[in-house]
Amino acid sequence: MRVGVLVSGTGSILEALLAGDLPVAVVVADRPCRGLEVAAAAGVDSELLDRARFGGFGAGFDRQAYTEALVTVLRAHGVGLVAMAGFGTVLAAPVHDAFPGRVLNTHPALLPAFPGWHAVEEALAAGVAVTGCTVHIATLEMDAGPVLAQEEVPVRPGDTAESLHERIKAVERVLYPRTVRAYLAELEERDEPR
Ligand code: GAR
Repeated sequence: MRVGVLVSGTGSILEALLAGDLPVAVVVADRPCRGLEVAAAAGVDSELLDRARFGGFGAGFDRQAYTEALVTVLRAHGVGLVAMAGFGTVLAAPVHDAFPGRVLNTHPALLPAFPGWHAVEEALAAGVAVTGCTVHIATLEMDAGPVLAQEEVPVRPGDTAESLHERIKAVERVLYPRTVRAYLAELEERDEPR
């Protein structure tokens, strides 16, 4: 079963998925980002499905049309499982209709704690001693949905959001490929090829 990876940033989680020998068929970015360079360097098909073409980042963003276009790209590449890897666009229903229970996400906090875009900063501001990361099945609600795996990361004295996020990402780079691989195997065992 082929995997489609969605990126918006550095693409270090994508690098880990590729290094983990996952069958990545296509990488899709919602904005120009290093993730696209990572895909090119690995010889993996990639596509910039730029939000700028769908109204950008303001109130005019056409989330429905963007999601429909994304589903078209993923289907064209024969994708059966979608893995968000630092993807900055909340998707609408069509992706969940097209890939029911087959959209995964990794998040830099122990969900349900600290959902959203500022999870690391918020964990630090809350003064928690331990945070971590969560791999889960994505649903329409942001950073919610059944948890597949979690791992704790202790907060160290003097941590900044950057230092803490980097230690969390080091864990994600192991946990996400492992969890995606196990989930793929589970889907294939269920004999639901797509
Ligand atoms: C990861 O920490 C991932 O959990 C986070 O973006 C980072 C991507 O890193 N995703 C979210 O915060 C989604 N809510 P990368 O660009 O180096 O791969």
